[in-house]
Amino acid sequence: MEHAVEATLTVNGKQVRRRIEPRMHLVDFLREELGLTGSHLGCEHGVCGACTVRVNGQIVRGCLMLAVQADGCAVETIEGLSDSKELGKLQKAFHEKNALQCGFCTPGMLMAAQDLVLQKQKVDREKIRAHISGNYCRCTGYQAIVDAIDEVINGKG
Ligand code: FES
Ligand code: FES
Repeated sequence: MEHAVEATLTVNGKQVRRRIEPRMHLVDFLREELGLTGSHLGCEHGVCGACTVRVNGQIVRGCLMLAVQADGCAVETIEGLSDSKELGKLQKAFHEKNALQCGFCTPGMLMAAQDLVLQKQKVDREKIRAHISGNYCRCTGYQAIVDAIDEVINGKG
């Protein structure tokens, strides 16, 4: 930690001040330093979406952003959304529609889906697919995931 930089982040509403190694990615910081292992690490190259978190209200890839770049920012992870109304509805719909199997993609998928729900727009299945197109799922074939999000946004499966 010789070259560590001091940074202050607000993570799920709590202020966190740490000395951070400059090359550490945000998702590694969240997982290793804060124990927030709900954000998963898949490709580590910004492709799979498993590491999706929200920074200052924007969905970002936690494996592409350095933790020190989040200095002064508000970071939300799946753990911080566990009490949110939208997430509760999405989790119920994912469960009912069998929209998860191994669950590896699920936290990132839920973060992306919640982002769409928060936009409060009527969206068709094509738009739902486009919105989650950066989140890979190897198990479900996406149909059930789109069903679940469609159910929450449009009240149908
Ligand atoms: S681990 Fe970040 S996009 Fe795949
Ligand atoms: S449920 Fe296994 S990767 Fe999506």
